[in-house]
Amino acid sequence: MTPPPETAEARIARESEYWNEQARRTESHAGQAELRVAITDRHDHAMPWLPYLGVPVLVERLLAELQPLAGRRVLDLGCGTGFLSTLLALHGAEVHAVDVSDGALRIAAERARLSGVGDKVHVCCIPGERLDAFEDGFFDAAAGSFVLHHADLDDALPELKRVLKPGAPAAFIETWGRNRPLMLARALVPGRAGVEKSSSDDEAPLGRAQERSIEAHFPGARFEFPELLCVRMLGVLPFLKGPGAHRSLAALDRWLGAIPGLRQYTYFALVALRRGG
Ligand SMILES: C[S@@+](CC[C@H](N)C(=O)[O-])C[C@H]1O[C@@H](n2cnc3c(N)ncnc32)[C@H](O)[C@@H]1O
Repeated sequence: MTPPPETAEARIARESEYWNEQARRTESHAGQAELRVAITDRHDHAMPWLPYLGVPVLVERLLAELQPLAGRRVLDLGCGTGFLSTLLALHGAEVHAVDVSDGALRIAAERARLSGVGDKVHVCCIPGERLDAFEDGFFDAAAGSFVLHHADLDDALPELKRVLKPGAPAAFIETWGRNRPLMLARALVPGRAGVEKSSSDDEAPLGRAQERSIEAHFPGARFEFPELLCVRMLGVLPFLKGPGAHRSLAALDRWLGAIPGLRQYTYFALVALRRGG
């Protein structure tokens, strides 16, 4: 007999459980110094490997897309432990940080408090597919890092559009699926060959179908690739883990990324949207 189709609740509950476990790990290794955020920071110090993955450049681009932030009401969708929420608040925004993991939200609230913006970051445990806590046109802008590829876009994109004011911008740093060999390696390697699996079972990098869905809900959507992140991913292999190997892999990416047309095959991209007027 065919099993009944899975409900959205079951998927969200699995995500919540997975990220609650990750939050427990963060609590066990990250102290106040790692959690605190300064206005000049461009990555979460609890994840010191992010500069190697080119994240600071993407965060800089995301901030540029959303300016001006001062006094604006901003949604941080899938905020996790809240690095971006706190950074947006340090830039003057009133941030509503939404996630399905109450463990991650606890850290997000603590991080904001430690960084002096506890009164500007409001956490809310709901999924992006049902932003019922917010009325239509509530937000001046929306942001997110590594969240759209966890959500059901058929439900989350109309909700995102609904809660944004007409003309409001949104920007997301996302895991990108155009590079087929990289996607094959992503499916086969983690959990084997001494490489830790660091993704949930329900996430999937944004592919062509998701790109089309984003463009349908947000005509004029832009996908940007400030850097090529590809060969560098080999740096997860145990025998390529040293700083020397990492420098060489990153240099190779920079060299390949200078070839016109190749940067779209990167692993991380910026998705820039604007709600129609
Ligand atoms: C890869 S983590 C990114 C967290 C944070 N934005 C960051 O960059 O560190 C994905 C986050 O999305 C959250 N998430 C997963 N599915 C979600 C959904 N349907 N709605 C809202 N948040 C979701 C998870 O709980 C998790 O905190």
